Amino acid sequence: MRKPLISGNWKMNLNHFEALKLVQELSYQVSRDDVELVDVSLHPPFTDIRTVQTVLESDRLPFALGAQHCYHEDAGAFTGEVSPAMLAKLNVAYVIAGHSERREIFGESDEMVNLKVKAILQHGMTPILCCGETLDEREAGQAEQKIAKQITAGLAGLASEHVGGMVVAYEPIWAIGTGRTASADDAQAMCAHARAIVAEVAGEAAAATVRIQYGGSVKPVNAAELMSQPDIDGALVGGACLEAESFGRIIQYRLAE
Ligand code: 13P
Repeated sequence: MRKPLISGNWKMNLNHFEALKLVQELSYQVSRDDVELVDVSLHPPFTDIRTVQTVLESDRLPFALGAQHCYHEDAGAFTGEVSPAMLAKLNVAYVIAGHSERREIFGESDEMVNLKVKAILQHGMTPILCCGETLDEREAGQAEQKIAKQITAGLAGLASEHVGGMVVAYEPIWAIGTGRTASADDAQAMCAHARAIVAEVAGEAAAATVRIQYGGSVKPVNAAELMSQPDIDGALVGGACLEAESFGRIIQYRLAE
């Protein structure tokens, strides 16, 4: 009932020429049948978005356009920032909010993430709200508590209908870029917990439709097992989305089942 969403977070990789090449290669790798049962979003850096938009629209490719970040204001004196209005104008459909790298490196607080989530929704786009614990927090038995706090704060003040259409990404920080994936059982347990928190904050109906992704060293070899878990509705992919072959195989995870 929930259509899975496989998202490629390019992070700060690939210039606009390289972006064009990757999207074209991906379009050869992935057939329309592959994306019948799964949504796919591409999240390039800001400088690539217009190029990727043009190729997606001119070639009618079955991938949604995404962004990795935005500020919450529409316009103004915010040097270096990009507004949700600007992204919406480029037909961006999904925007990542509160990725652990933005929280840790750029000091994004739960309050800033909440403002961003609201701004993304106001412009008709879908936020992908990220949460996840550090290794220390996991070892101290605080993983559940950490993501409960992040999800509760991130969704504060939102209408249940909005929450039900959103995406939450559970990304344990110790699994990001490390090659160390959470076991399918652990990932399932944390995604089920994330769904229970959504139910507490926004009600059962929203929790039943919100899509929960797992992220952290998702690769073609582990995608099928992760995706077969009942509370995992997709993947937020970093490193493996930078090659058409590996991202294509993740999109085609059903073939490996
Ligand atoms: P990796 O897939 O490289 O571990 O990155 C995950 C991630 O942070 C996606 O947002």
